[in-house]
Amino acid sequence: MAELVGIYAASHGPLIVRKWNALSAECRHTIDTAFNELGRRINAARADVLIVISPDHWVNFFIDNLPAICVGVGETHDGPPEPWLAEFPHKQMVGHAPLAQHIVEHAFTRGFEPSISYKLALDHGFCVPLWKAGVAPMPAIVPVVLNTVEPPFPSVRRCFEWGTVLRDAIAGFAGNTRVAILASGGLSHSIGEATMGAIDEAFDRECLQHFASGDRDTLFDFLDQRMAAAGNGTAEVRNWVAAHGAATACGFDLIHYSAIADVYVGCGFASWNAFKKI
Ligand SMILES: [Fe+2]
Repeated sequence: MAELVGIYAASHGPLIVRKWNALSAECRHTIDTAFNELGRRINAARADVLIVISPDHWVNFFIDNLPAICVGVGETHDGPPEPWLAEFPHKQMVGHAPLAQHIVEHAFTRGFEPSISYKLALDHGFCVPLWKAGVAPMPAIVPVVLNTVEPPFPSVRRCFEWGTVLRDAIAGFAGNTRVAILASGGLSHSIGEATMGAIDEAFDRECLQHFASGDRDTLFDFLDQRMAAAGNGTAEVRNWVAAHGAATACGFDLIHYSAIADVYVGCGFASWNAFKKI
């Protein structure tokens, strides 16, 4: 059976790339160091397939068609369409249709009915962490779009449960495939609203403590009470919650956190170890 060999999370603030040359040397060093360690861990896992959980930032979907969850089941996916990601080295990325289809079929037995897409373009949410972390060789990518950009959002508990669906689907997939999961997004940030650029560092640090403690109910209650007021982009923490569900809510290892005002995002980087216990 397939093996879950790693679970990771990282922020993907666009300014990490878009504003890179204007950032201070100290800021670039902080971001590079965190991404390098994340990439070292991802590459060490030697995954054949990387399931990337990210929102879609209005590239594939809009308010006329906005799935809560969409699994990319295509043989390939297009690279990022953002002009400022033109130097991203992959114009196309290989998918893993059999695992993606298996995830969807398993989900339908678990009370989830995700949308599917045979043709996704993977925007900065997917590609900034892959690029900045230096993921190489690039595994096959199974994109999972989780709507964390436009309410209504899946509940925190539902996102956690979705993570357990991913975990169990991997465990039931025939073959010797090595599979890892990367959650992309968060932590606190505010985009296109009056508080744009604000970072709620207190929220981020408490949030990370709750991930680390493994007390899922405390984490859920905290996010239910605090996430909505911590900036509209903070909803992306749901992607971390899905990864947390896949990791059975324990073994969280923080690589780095900084509230980086110059990129408008509370930048977090982490991996989970709990998959070893599955
Ligand atoms: Fe985002």
